[in-house]
Amino acid sequence: MAGYVEVMKADALQDGQMKEVKTGGQAVLLAKVGGRFYAAENKCPHMGGNLAQGKLEGTVVTCPVHGSQYELTDGSVIRWTNWPGAVVTVTKLFRRPRAIKTYPVKVEGDKVLVEV
Ligand code: FES
Repeated sequence: MAGYVEVMKADALQDGQMKEVKTGGQAVLLAKVGGRFYAAENKCPHMGGNLAQGKLEGTVVTCPVHGSQYELTDGSVIRWTNWPGAVVTVTKLFRRPRAIKTYPVKVEGDKVLVEV
């Protein structure tokens, strides 16, 4: 385990914003909501969409590609694509819904650190 690594300055993100940072060879989504930072894998488990380019509403991120939604507090799937019911039911047979990985985050002074 690599331990915590600085990924950005704490004032580099405004509340309600998110950004991709690279650390430990991983693309990590870093979001700030209600003064807290959240970190998760940035690659959508559905078909690899860049989650940081999606939409952030509260702690829910929406993938810009097909609209899957994930809860940043625990990575759980809120919605698996925005496809119509029959289509998503069939495609779930081939690509099962999977939560995104989340990572521990802490702030030390003016630095945001993530453990991947
Ligand atoms: S790639 Fe993210 S929902 Fe399809």
